[in-house]
Amino acid sequence: MKSSIAVVVLAAGAGTRMKSALPKVLHPLAGWPMLRHVLDNVGRLKPSRIVGVISPGAAVVAEAFAPHRTVVQKRPLGTGDAAKAALGALKGHRGPVLVVFGDAPLVTTASMQRLVAACRKQEAAVGVLGFIARDPSPYGRLIVRRGQLERIVESKDADEAEKAIDFCNSGVMCLDGRLVATLLGAIRNDNAKREFYLTDAVAIARAAGHKAIAVEGEETEFQGINSRAELAVAERALQDRLRGAAMAAGVTMTDPATVWLSADTRFAADVSIGPNVRFGPGVTVASNVEIKAFCDIEGARIGAGAIIGPFARIRPGSDVAEDVHIGNFVELKATRMGRGAKANHLAYLGDSDIGARSNIGAGTIAVNYDGYGKWRTVVGPEVFVGSNSALVAPVRIGKGANVTAGSVITEDVPAGAVAFGRARQTTKKGRAAPLRAKLKARAAAAKRAHKKTTK
Ligand code: UD1
Ligand code: CA
Repeated sequence: MKSSIAVVVLAAGAGTRMKSALPKVLHPLAGWPMLRHVLDNVGRLKPSRIVGVISPGAAVVAEAFAPHRTVVQKRPLGTGDAAKAALGALKGHRGPVLVVFGDAPLVTTASMQRLVAACRKQEAAVGVLGFIARDPSPYGRLIVRRGQLERIVESKDADEAEKAIDFCNSGVMCLDGRLVATLLGAIRNDNAKREFYLTDAVAIARAAGHKAIAVEGEETEFQGINSRAELAVAERALQDRLRGAAMAAGVTMTDPATVWLSADTRFAADVSIGPNVRFGPGVTVASNVEIKAFCDIEGARIGAGAIIGPFARIRPGSDVAEDVHIGNFVELKATRMGRGAKANHLAYLGDSDIGARSNIGAGTIAVNYDGYGKWRTVVGPEVFVGSNSALVAPVRIGKGANVTAGSVITEDVPAGAVAFGRARQTTKKGRAAPLRAKLKARAAAAKRAHKKTTK
Protein backbone atom coordinates (compact mmCIF):
# COMPACT_ATOMS: atom_id res chain seq x y z
CA MET A 1 0.00 0.00 0.00
CA LYS A 2 1.16 3.53 -0.77
CA SER A 3 2.17 5.59 2.25
CA SER A 4 0.05 8.65 3.00
CA ILE A 5 1.04 12.25 2.22
CA ALA A 6 1.50 14.98 4.83
CA VAL A 7 1.34 18.64 3.84
CA VAL A 8 3.09 21.57 5.51
CA VAL A 9 1.85 25.05 4.58
CA LEU A 10 4.30 27.86 5.39
CA ALA A 11 2.49 31.04 6.36
CA ALA A 12 4.66 32.69 9.00
CA GLY A 13 6.28 35.31 6.79
CA ALA A 14 5.75 38.98 7.62
CA GLY A 15 3.96 39.96 4.40
CA THR A 16 5.00 43.59 4.92
CA ARG A 17 4.73 44.55 1.26
CA MET A 18 0.93 44.16 1.38
CA LYS A 19 0.84 47.24 3.68
CA SER A 20 -2.15 45.73 5.44
CA ALA A 21 -3.51 45.02 8.90
CA LEU A 22 -5.00 41.83 7.42
CA PRO A 23 -2.51 38.91 7.25
CA LYS A 24 -1.42 38.38 3.65
CA VAL A 25 -2.79 34.82 3.35
CA LEU A 26 -6.26 36.06 4.28
CA HIS A 27 -6.55 38.59 1.46
CA PRO A 28 -9.42 37.60 -0.82
CA LEU A 29 -8.92 35.99 -4.18
CA ALA A 30 -11.89 34.88 -6.30
CA GLY A 31 -14.15 35.30 -3.28
CA TRP A 32 -12.06 33.20 -0.90
CA PRO A 33 -9.22 34.04 1.45
CA MET A 34 -5.96 33.19 -0.36
CA LEU A 35 -5.20 30.42 2.14
CA ARG A 36 -8.47 28.63 1.41
CA HIS A 37 -7.35 28.11 -2.20
CA VAL A 38 -4.12 26.53 -0.96
CA LEU A 39 -6.00 24.29 1.52
CA ASP A 40 -8.52 23.34 -1.16
CA ASN A 41 -5.77 22.41 -3.63
CA VAL A 42 -3.71 20.38 -1.16
CA GLY A 43 -6.91 18.87 0.30
CA ARG A 44 -7.56 17.14 -3.01
CA LEU A 45 -4.35 15.15 -2.50
CA LYS A 46 -6.23 13.51 0.40
CA PRO A 47 -3.31 13.97 2.81
CA SER A 48 -3.39 12.23 6.17
CA ARG A 49 -2.53 15.55 7.85
CA ILE A 50 -2.08 19.22 7.04
CA VAL A 51 0.08 21.37 9.28
CA GLY A 52 0.09 25.16 9.09
CA VAL A 53 3.14 27.15 10.19
CA ILE A 54 2.11 30.57 11.46
CA SER A 55 3.70 33.50 13.25
CA PRO A 56 3.13 34.21 16.96
CA GLY A 57 -0.22 35.81 17.72
CA ALA A 58 -1.74 35.05 14.31
CA ALA A 59 -4.96 33.68 15.79
CA VAL A 60 -7.01 34.63 12.73
CA VAL A 61 -4.66 32.65 10.51
CA ALA A 62 -4.90 29.66 12.86
CA GLU A 63 -8.69 29.91 12.55
CA ALA A 64 -8.42 29.93 8.77
CA PHE A 65 -6.40 26.69 8.99
CA ALA A 66 -9.01 24.99 11.18
CA PRO A 67 -9.72 22.10 11.54
CA HIS A 68 -6.07 21.55 10.61
CA ARG A 69 -3.36 21.88 13.17
CA THR A 70 -1.04 24.90 13.28
CA VAL A 71 2.38 25.34 14.85
CA VAL A 72 4.08 28.64 15.63
CA GLN A 73 7.43 29.64 14.17
CA LYS A 74 8.78 31.90 16.92
CA ARG A 75 10.85 34.17 14.68
CA PRO A 76 10.91 34.39 10.85
CA LEU A 77 14.37 32.93 10.39
CA GLY A 78 13.69 31.55 6.92
CA THR A 79 11.75 28.83 5.11
CA GLY A 80 14.03 26.08 6.47
CA ASP A 81 13.38 27.17 10.03
CA ALA A 82 9.63 27.42 9.31
CA ALA A 83 9.50 23.86 7.96
CA LYS A 84 11.46 22.65 10.98
CA ALA A 85 8.78 24.12 13.25
CA ALA A 86 6.37 21.55 11.79
CA LEU A 87 8.55 18.52 12.63
CA GLY A 88 6.83 17.86 15.96
CA ALA A 89 3.48 17.69 14.20
CA LEU A 90 4.91 15.24 11.63
CA LYS A 91 6.01 12.63 14.19
CA GLY A 92 5.37 9.10 13.06
CA HIS A 93 4.73 10.13 9.45
CA ARG A 94 6.78 8.06 7.02
CA GLY A 95 5.27 9.00 3.65
CA PRO A 96 6.02 12.02 1.47
CA VAL A 97 5.97 15.46 3.13
CA LEU A 98 4.85 18.16 0.73
CA VAL A 99 5.89 21.71 1.68
CA VAL A 100 3.94 24.54 0.03
CA PHE A 101 3.70 28.31 0.59
CA GLY A 102 0.54 29.97 1.88
CA ASP A 103 1.05 32.88 -0.51
CA ALA A 104 1.19 30.79 -3.71
CA PRO A 105 -2.47 29.90 -4.27
CA LEU A 106 -2.31 29.10 -8.00
CA VAL A 107 -0.37 25.83 -7.76
CA THR A 108 -2.68 23.12 -9.04
CA THR A 109 -3.35 19.79 -7.37
CA ALA A 110 -2.25 18.11 -10.61
CA SER A 111 1.23 19.63 -10.42
CA MET A 112 1.62 18.62 -6.77
CA GLN A 113 0.46 15.12 -7.67
CA ARG A 114 3.05 14.89 -10.46
CA LEU A 115 5.80 15.90 -8.03
CA VAL A 116 4.77 13.39 -5.37
CA ALA A 117 4.39 10.62 -7.97
CA ALA A 118 7.85 11.33 -9.44
CA CYS A 119 9.44 11.33 -5.98
CA ARG A 120 7.82 8.01 -5.12
CA LYS A 121 8.77 6.43 -8.43
CA GLN A 122 12.37 7.61 -8.42
CA GLU A 123 12.74 7.13 -4.68
CA ALA A 124 13.99 10.69 -4.28
CA ALA A 125 14.72 12.10 -0.83
CA VAL A 126 13.84 15.57 -2.12
CA GLY A 127 11.91 16.78 -5.17
CA VAL A 128 10.93 20.29 -6.22
CA LEU A 129 8.58 21.78 -8.77
CA GLY A 130 10.62 23.99 -11.08
CA PHE A 131 9.73 26.28 -13.95
CA ILE A 132 11.38 28.30 -16.68
CA ALA A 133 11.06 31.91 -15.52
CA ARG A 134 10.76 34.83 -17.90
CA ASP A 135 12.55 36.88 -15.24
CA PRO A 136 14.47 34.52 -12.96
CA SER A 137 15.95 37.27 -10.78
CA PRO A 138 13.69 36.85 -7.69
CA TYR A 139 13.95 33.06 -7.56
CA GLY A 140 16.23 30.33 -6.35
CA ARG A 141 17.98 28.62 -9.34
CA LEU A 142 17.89 24.87 -9.83
CA ILE A 143 21.29 23.37 -10.55
CA VAL A 144 20.60 20.18 -12.47
CA ARG A 145 23.30 17.81 -13.67
CA ARG A 146 22.74 14.56 -15.52
CA GLY A 147 19.05 14.46 -14.69
CA GLN A 148 19.60 14.99 -10.98
CA LEU A 149 19.06 18.09 -8.92
CA GLU A 150 22.36 19.00 -7.27
CA ARG A 151 21.42 22.04 -5.25
CA ILE A 152 19.38 25.22 -5.24
CA VAL A 153 21.12 28.58 -5.20
CA GLU A 154 19.19 31.56 -3.89
CA SER A 155 19.45 34.70 -6.02
CA LYS A 156 21.44 36.64 -3.43
CA ASP A 157 24.04 33.85 -3.21
CA ALA A 158 24.32 33.08 -6.93
CA ASP A 159 27.42 33.80 -9.01
CA GLU A 160 27.18 35.18 -12.56
CA ALA A 161 26.99 31.76 -14.23
CA GLU A 162 24.27 30.61 -11.82
CA LYS A 163 22.35 33.85 -12.29
CA ALA A 164 22.15 33.07 -16.01
CA ILE A 165 20.13 29.90 -15.26
CA ASP A 166 16.40 30.36 -15.86
CA PHE A 167 15.20 27.05 -14.36
CA CYS A 168 13.79 28.22 -11.03
CA ASN A 169 12.42 26.92 -7.75
CA SER A 170 8.65 27.27 -7.34
CA GLY A 171 8.89 26.73 -3.59
CA VAL A 172 6.88 23.50 -3.71
CA MET A 173 9.02 20.73 -2.26
CA CYS A 174 8.45 17.07 -1.51
CA LEU A 175 10.58 15.39 1.16
CA ASP A 176 10.82 11.75 2.17
CA GLY A 177 9.09 11.52 5.55
CA ARG A 178 11.71 9.07 6.86
CA LEU A 179 14.48 11.61 6.20
CA VAL A 180 12.74 14.93 6.75
CA ALA A 181 13.91 15.48 10.36
CA THR A 182 17.54 14.72 9.48
CA LEU A 183 17.53 16.87 6.33
CA LEU A 184 15.88 19.90 7.93
CA GLY A 185 18.00 19.53 11.07
CA ALA A 186 21.18 19.92 9.01
CA ILE A 187 20.18 23.27 7.45
CA ARG A 188 22.43 26.17 8.53
CA ASN A 189 22.21 29.91 7.96
CA ASP A 190 25.67 30.61 6.53
CA ASN A 191 24.43 32.57 3.51
CA ALA A 192 23.89 36.12 2.24
CA LYS A 193 20.57 36.58 4.07
CA ARG A 194 21.62 34.75 7.28
CA GLU A 195 18.44 32.74 6.85
CA PHE A 196 17.74 29.03 7.15
CA TYR A 197 16.95 28.12 3.55
CA LEU A 198 14.61 25.18 3.03
CA THR A 199 16.22 24.89 -0.39
CA ASP A 200 19.48 23.71 1.25
CA ALA A 201 17.75 20.38 1.90
CA VAL A 202 18.65 19.44 -1.69
CA ALA A 203 22.46 19.72 -1.32
CA ILE A 204 22.25 18.11 2.13
CA ALA A 205 20.37 15.10 0.71
CA ARG A 206 22.82 14.76 -2.17
CA ALA A 207 25.85 14.94 0.14
CA ALA A 208 24.34 12.07 2.15
CA GLY A 209 24.07 10.00 -1.03
CA HIS A 210 20.30 10.42 -1.59
CA LYS A 211 18.52 11.29 -4.77
CA ALA A 212 17.02 14.73 -5.57
CA ILE A 213 14.87 15.63 -8.57
CA ALA A 214 13.20 18.60 -10.24
CA VAL A 215 9.83 18.28 -11.98
CA GLU A 216 8.95 21.04 -14.43
CA GLY A 217 5.69 22.98 -14.34
CA GLU A 218 4.15 26.15 -15.78
CA GLU A 219 5.29 29.54 -14.55
CA THR A 220 1.70 30.83 -14.33
CA GLU A 221 1.02 28.43 -11.45
CA PHE A 222 3.91 29.52 -9.34
CA GLN A 223 3.41 33.22 -9.07
CA GLY A 224 3.64 34.15 -5.40
CA ILE A 225 1.75 37.08 -3.92
CA ASN A 226 3.80 39.68 -2.09
CA SER A 227 2.04 42.93 -3.00
CA ARG A 228 -1.41 44.22 -3.94
CA ALA A 229 -0.29 44.47 -7.55
CA GLU A 230 0.67 40.78 -7.54
CA LEU A 231 -2.66 40.01 -5.87
CA ALA A 232 -4.43 41.67 -8.81
CA VAL A 233 -2.34 39.68 -11.31
CA ALA A 234 -3.19 36.45 -9.48
CA GLU A 235 -6.88 37.39 -9.42
CA ARG A 236 -6.86 37.75 -13.19
CA ALA A 237 -5.06 34.49 -13.72
CA LEU A 238 -7.47 32.68 -11.43
CA GLN A 239 -10.50 34.30 -13.07
CA ASP A 240 -9.25 33.17 -16.48
CA ARG A 241 -8.93 29.64 -15.13
CA LEU A 242 -12.42 29.68 -13.57
CA ARG A 243 -14.07 31.16 -16.68
CA GLY A 244 -12.31 28.62 -18.88
CA ALA A 245 -13.56 25.78 -16.68
CA ALA A 246 -17.12 27.17 -16.69
CA MET A 247 -17.19 27.49 -20.47
CA ALA A 248 -15.73 24.00 -20.85
CA ALA A 249 -18.60 22.75 -18.67
CA GLY A 250 -21.24 24.27 -20.97
CA VAL A 251 -21.64 27.91 -19.91
CA THR A 252 -21.93 30.60 -22.58
CA MET A 253 -20.32 33.96 -21.80
CA THR A 254 -20.82 36.89 -24.16
CA ASP A 255 -17.71 38.64 -22.84
CA PRO A 256 -15.82 36.31 -20.48
CA ALA A 257 -13.30 38.95 -19.40
CA THR A 258 -16.09 40.89 -17.67
CA VAL A 259 -17.60 37.95 -15.79
CA TRP A 260 -16.20 37.65 -12.25
CA LEU A 261 -16.52 34.31 -10.53
CA SER A 262 -15.82 32.90 -7.10
CA ALA A 263 -13.81 29.75 -6.60
CA ASP A 264 -17.00 27.95 -5.54
CA THR A 265 -19.41 29.22 -8.23
CA ARG A 266 -21.23 26.15 -9.59
CA PHE A 267 -22.92 26.01 -13.00
CA ALA A 268 -25.00 23.35 -14.68
CA ALA A 269 -24.87 23.13 -18.47
CA ASP A 270 -26.56 25.61 -20.82
CA VAL A 271 -26.32 28.62 -18.59
CA SER A 272 -25.88 31.86 -20.46
CA ILE A 273 -24.21 34.91 -18.93
CA GLY A 274 -24.17 38.42 -20.38
CA PRO A 275 -21.42 40.98 -19.89
CA ASN A 276 -20.45 42.53 -16.55
CA VAL A 277 -21.81 39.97 -14.14
CA ARG A 278 -20.25 39.28 -10.73
CA PHE A 279 -20.70 36.10 -8.71
CA GLY A 280 -19.80 36.41 -5.05
CA PRO A 281 -19.14 33.28 -2.98
CA GLY A 282 -21.74 30.55 -2.60
CA VAL A 283 -23.70 30.67 -5.86
CA THR A 284 -25.20 27.64 -7.60
CA VAL A 285 -26.83 28.06 -11.00
CA ALA A 286 -28.98 25.29 -12.53
CA SER A 287 -29.37 24.53 -16.23
CA ASN A 288 -30.94 26.81 -18.82
CA VAL A 289 -30.65 29.91 -16.68
CA GLU A 290 -30.10 33.19 -18.45
CA ILE A 291 -28.27 35.90 -16.53
CA LYS A 292 -28.36 39.16 -18.44
CA ALA A 293 -25.86 42.02 -18.22
CA PHE A 294 -24.84 43.84 -15.02
CA CYS A 295 -26.06 41.45 -12.35
CA ASP A 296 -24.51 40.87 -8.93
CA ILE A 297 -25.28 37.53 -7.30
CA GLU A 298 -23.96 36.17 -4.02
CA GLY A 299 -24.85 33.31 -1.67
CA ALA A 300 -27.83 32.16 -3.70
CA ARG A 301 -29.27 29.24 -5.65
CA ILE A 302 -30.75 29.97 -9.05
CA GLY A 303 -33.15 27.28 -10.29
CA ALA A 304 -33.40 25.88 -13.81
CA GLY A 305 -34.89 28.08 -16.50
CA ALA A 306 -34.81 31.29 -14.45
CA ILE A 307 -34.20 34.60 -16.20
CA ILE A 308 -32.23 37.14 -14.19
CA GLY A 309 -31.50 40.78 -14.98
CA PRO A 310 -30.31 42.91 -16.54
CA PHE A 311 -29.25 44.94 -13.46
CA ALA A 312 -30.49 42.53 -10.80
CA ARG A 313 -28.93 42.09 -7.38
CA ILE A 314 -29.40 38.80 -5.56
CA ARG A 315 -27.95 38.79 -2.07
CA PRO A 316 -27.02 35.99 0.35
CA GLY A 317 -29.65 33.60 1.62
CA SER A 318 -31.80 33.85 -1.48
CA ASP A 319 -33.29 30.88 -3.26
CA VAL A 320 -34.72 31.43 -6.72
CA ALA A 321 -36.78 28.46 -7.90
CA GLU A 322 -37.30 27.13 -11.42
CA ASP A 323 -38.60 29.49 -14.12
CA VAL A 324 -38.55 32.60 -11.94
CA HIS A 325 -38.09 36.00 -13.59
CA ILE A 326 -36.11 38.69 -11.79
CA GLY A 327 -35.95 41.88 -13.81
CA ASN A 328 -34.08 45.16 -13.79
CA PHE A 329 -33.34 46.96 -10.52
CA VAL A 330 -34.78 44.19 -8.41
CA GLU A 331 -32.93 43.33 -5.21
CA LEU A 332 -33.47 40.11 -3.26
CA LYS A 333 -32.01 39.54 0.22
CA ALA A 334 -32.61 36.26 2.08
CA THR A 335 -35.66 35.77 -0.09
CA ARG A 336 -37.21 32.64 -1.55
CA MET A 337 -38.96 33.01 -4.88
CA GLY A 338 -41.29 30.08 -5.58
CA ARG A 339 -41.44 28.35 -8.94
CA GLY A 340 -42.53 30.66 -11.76
CA ALA A 341 -42.80 33.76 -9.53
CA LYS A 342 -42.00 37.12 -11.11
CA ALA A 343 -40.57 40.42 -9.93
CA ASN A 344 -39.76 42.17 -13.14
CA HIS A 345 -39.04 45.78 -12.27
CA LEU A 346 -37.77 48.00 -9.44
CA ALA A 347 -38.40 46.05 -6.27
CA TYR A 348 -36.77 45.32 -2.93
CA LEU A 349 -37.68 41.94 -1.49
CA GLY A 350 -35.83 41.33 1.78
CA ASP A 351 -36.47 38.45 4.22
CA SER A 352 -39.41 37.37 2.08
CA ASP A 353 -41.04 34.21 0.90
CA ILE A 354 -42.84 34.65 -2.41
CA GLY A 355 -45.13 31.79 -3.44
CA ALA A 356 -45.17 30.01 -6.78
CA ARG A 357 -46.53 31.94 -9.77
CA SER A 358 -47.03 35.13 -7.75
CA ASN A 359 -46.45 38.45 -9.48
CA ILE A 360 -44.72 41.26 -7.67
CA GLY A 361 -45.46 44.61 -9.32
CA ALA A 362 -42.99 47.38 -10.14
CA GLY A 363 -41.88 49.40 -7.16
CA THR A 364 -42.90 46.87 -4.51
CA ILE A 365 -40.97 47.07 -1.26
CA ALA A 366 -40.92 44.40 1.43
CA VAL A 367 -40.47 46.68 4.42
CA ASN A 368 -38.36 44.30 6.46
CA TYR A 369 -36.58 46.63 8.88
CA ASP A 370 -38.14 48.88 11.51
CA GLY A 371 -34.88 50.36 12.70
CA TYR A 372 -34.37 47.61 15.30
CA GLY A 373 -35.41 44.21 13.99
CA LYS A 374 -35.80 42.45 10.65
CA TRP A 375 -39.14 40.77 9.91
CA ARG A 376 -40.42 38.38 7.29
CA THR A 377 -42.97 38.91 4.54
CA VAL A 378 -44.77 35.74 3.47
CA VAL A 379 -46.67 35.82 0.20
CA GLY A 380 -48.59 32.72 -0.81
CA PRO A 381 -48.86 31.26 -4.30
CA GLU A 382 -50.68 33.00 -7.16
CA VAL A 383 -50.79 36.35 -5.41
CA PHE A 384 -50.87 39.59 -7.38
CA VAL A 385 -49.13 42.53 -5.72
CA GLY A 386 -49.91 45.78 -7.54
CA SER A 387 -47.24 48.32 -8.38
CA ASN A 388 -45.75 50.60 -5.77
CA SER A 389 -46.94 48.62 -2.78
CA ALA A 390 -45.23 48.48 0.60
CA LEU A 391 -45.60 45.17 2.44
CA VAL A 392 -44.83 46.11 6.04
CA ALA A 393 -43.39 43.04 7.76
CA PRO A 394 -44.18 40.93 9.60
CA VAL A 395 -47.10 40.33 7.27
CA ARG A 396 -48.69 37.41 5.42
CA ILE A 397 -50.65 37.44 2.20
CA GLY A 398 -52.70 34.36 1.49
CA LYS A 399 -53.00 32.29 -1.67
CA GLY A 400 -54.57 33.98 -4.66
CA ALA A 401 -55.00 37.34 -2.89
CA ASN A 402 -54.81 40.63 -4.76
CA VAL A 403 -53.07 43.67 -3.33
CA THR A 404 -54.11 46.78 -5.20
CA ALA A 405 -51.50 49.16 -6.57
CA GLY A 406 -50.07 51.77 -4.22
CA SER A 407 -51.11 49.88 -1.08
CA VAL A 408 -49.34 50.00 2.26
CA ILE A 409 -50.13 46.59 3.69
CA THR A 410 -49.79 46.45 7.47
CA GLU A 411 -52.25 43.66 8.24
CA ASP A 412 -52.38 40.06 7.03
CA VAL A 413 -54.45 39.49 3.89
CA PRO A 414 -56.39 36.20 3.83
CA ALA A 415 -56.41 33.89 0.81
CA GLY A 416 -58.56 35.08 -2.05
CA ALA A 417 -59.09 38.58 -0.61
CA VAL A 418 -58.57 41.95 -2.28
CA ALA A 419 -56.71 44.44 -0.10
CA PHE A 420 -56.77 48.21 -0.54
CA GLY A 421 -54.21 49.97 1.61
CA ARG A 422 -54.48 53.49 0.27
CA ALA A 423 -56.52 56.71 0.55
CA ARG A 424 -59.73 56.78 -1.45
CA GLN A 425 -59.69 58.91 -4.60
CA THR A 426 -62.08 61.86 -4.92
CA THR A 427 -62.97 63.25 -8.35
CA LYS A 428 -64.44 66.76 -8.80
CA LYS A 429 -66.13 67.30 -12.16
CA GLY A 430 -65.31 70.46 -14.14
CA ARG A 431 -62.93 71.78 -11.52
CA ALA A 432 -59.66 71.59 -13.54
CA ALA A 433 -59.99 74.98 -15.34
CA PRO A 434 -60.81 77.04 -12.21
CA LEU A 435 -57.94 75.33 -10.39
CA ARG A 436 -55.51 76.24 -13.18
CA ALA A 437 -56.66 79.89 -13.18
CA LYS A 438 -56.18 80.08 -9.42
CA LEU A 439 -52.67 78.58 -9.57
CA LYS A 440 -51.66 80.88 -12.46
CA ALA A 441 -52.77 84.01 -10.52
CA ARG A 442 -50.94 82.89 -7.43
CA ALA A 443 -47.67 82.37 -9.39
CA ALA A 444 -47.96 85.83 -11.03
CA ALA A 445 -48.51 87.50 -7.63
CA ALA A 446 -45.44 85.78 -6.21
CA LYS A 447 -43.32 86.98 -9.15
CA ARG A 448 -44.41 90.61 -8.65
CA ALA A 449 -43.59 90.44 -4.96
CA HIS A 450 -40.13 89.05 -5.74
CA LYS A 451 -39.37 91.90 -8.20
CA LYS A 452 -40.26 94.51 -5.58
CA THR A 453 -37.92 93.10 -2.97
CA THR A 454 -34.93 92.84 -5.34
CA LYS A 455 -35.20 96.37 -6.77
C1 UD1 B 1 11.47 31.14 -1.79
C2 UD1 B 1 12.58 30.15 -2.13
C3 UD1 B 1 13.05 30.37 -3.55
C4 UD1 B 1 11.89 30.27 -4.52
C5 UD1 B 1 10.79 31.23 -4.12
C6 UD1 B 1 9.55 31.01 -4.96
C7 UD1 B 1 13.77 29.66 -0.06
C8 UD1 B 1 14.99 29.94 0.73
N1 UD1 B 1 13.69 30.30 -1.23
O1 UD1 B 1 12.08 32.41 -1.74
O2 UD1 B 1 14.03 29.41 -3.91
O3 UD1 B 1 12.31 30.52 -5.84
O4 UD1 B 1 10.41 31.05 -2.75
O5 UD1 B 1 8.62 32.00 -4.75
O6 UD1 B 1 12.95 28.88 0.35
N2 UD1 B 1 8.00 31.84 5.48
C9 UD1 B 1 7.80 31.46 6.79
N3 UD1 B 1 8.77 31.72 7.70
C10 UD1 B 1 9.94 32.34 7.37
C11 UD1 B 1 10.14 32.74 6.03
C12 UD1 B 1 9.15 32.46 5.10
O7 UD1 B 1 6.76 30.90 7.12
O8 UD1 B 1 10.77 32.54 8.27
C13 UD1 B 1 6.95 31.55 4.47
C14 UD1 B 1 6.33 32.80 3.92
O9 UD1 B 1 5.16 33.15 4.64
C15 UD1 B 1 5.98 32.39 2.50
C16 UD1 B 1 7.03 31.35 2.16
O10 UD1 B 1 7.54 30.90 3.37
O11 UD1 B 1 4.72 31.79 2.44
C17 UD1 B 1 8.11 31.87 1.22
O12 UD1 B 1 8.93 32.79 1.89
P1 UD1 B 1 9.66 33.96 1.12
O13 UD1 B 1 10.46 34.73 2.11
O14 UD1 B 1 8.70 34.73 0.30
O15 UD1 B 1 10.65 33.15 0.17
P2 UD1 B 1 11.41 33.73 -1.09
O16 UD1 B 1 12.50 34.59 -0.64
O17 UD1 B 1 10.45 34.29 -2.05
CA1 CA C 1 8.20 34.96 -1.94
